Amino acid sequence: MEFTGGHVLSVSQFDREDISRIFDVADELRPYAQRKRITRVLQGAILANMFFEPSTRTRISFAAAFNLLGGEVRETSEIRASSLTKGESLYDTARVLSGYSDVIVMRHPEAGSVAEFARASRVPVLNGGDGPNEHPSQALLDLYTIRSELLAQNKSVNSMKISLVGDLKYGRAVHSLCKLIALYDNVRFNLVSPPGLELPEELVLQLQSQGHRVEKYHALEAGIHNVDIVYVTRTQEERFPSQAEADRYKGLFRLNQSVYTQNCEPNTVIMHPLPRDSRANAQELDDDLIENPHLAIFRQTDNGLVVRMALFALVLNVVDAVHDHSQPVTWYTAKRTPR
Ligand code: NCD
Repeated sequence: MEFTGGHVLSVSQFDREDISRIFDVADELRPYAQRKRITRVLQGAILANMFFEPSTRTRISFAAAFNLLGGEVRETSEIRASSLTKGESLYDTARVLSGYSDVIVMRHPEAGSVAEFARASRVPVLNGGDGPNEHPSQALLDLYTIRSELLAQNKSVNSMKISLVGDLKYGRAVHSLCKLIALYDNVRFNLVSPPGLELPEELVLQLQSQGHRVEKYHALEAGIHNVDIVYVTRTQEERFPSQAEADRYKGLFRLNQSVYTQNCEPNTVIMHPLPRDSRANAQELDDDLIENPHLAIFRQTDNGLVVRMALFALVLNVVDAVHDHSQPVTWYTAKRTPR
């Protein structure tokens, strides 16, 4: 795709060459994320960070990524605090905000809303999650993490085996991740969900039509044998018709150290987009895994920063200029070593 001035709305807009380009730029920007160097290449640019649904990681990491490239951030983090509650259309909001900013990140509870917003925007729009539909930057950082975890084991994304576990119906992170991984060759997907929360059938058919092997499981233990990656997700309770309905599914699958030891390969990588639900009735990913060296969840979040920096650098066409505006860091950073 042509990155300069483009929107990032769905992983469907990428091919493998685009993904390599994003990952190469992310690698190049790592010294800035690690505070080894500073760049002011986006000095004077403004990001409008519009989050009309709860978020911690995605919102702060997009903002921090923009700051690390030297740009300024303005944000709204509550739908109640915005004029959308006064009946303003997405069209009007987009026309207005794109006059104030150079790029916009938007999260919104309705599928398709960010694309609708982007049609009226005068500046590039990046999708920070549109309802149950897509979460492209999460899928990119997940794939970037998968690639580096597998590389450390002399494996590659081609021919890997991955279990996707949990709420595969409403989880936008898994929806985007499946589509992105499907661009590679000969992947085995284990789809592990409670009955009723299966991956949408059109996505299953898409994976199969692209030549991948798909197996469905309704029990956690059976679905996580002999795989390279286990990607666990939270029950997306906010998307259920009622809390009681969501509660029926919570706590059905719990990956802890003992389930891992009994069922996974000794080097199976454990991932989760976060937040994990640590309340007693959920715990899909137990805290007792924290010492497991294959738990990659905080490597995922760290990688989110460089991947989001890469998206901004590409869309605003400053990749080649980054190093021209670079200088060493002068403050204390010794503890900021990568995990
Ligand atoms: C995910 C999301 O918002 O879709 N979180 C995130 O952005 N890292 C997953 C989730 O909320 O469960």
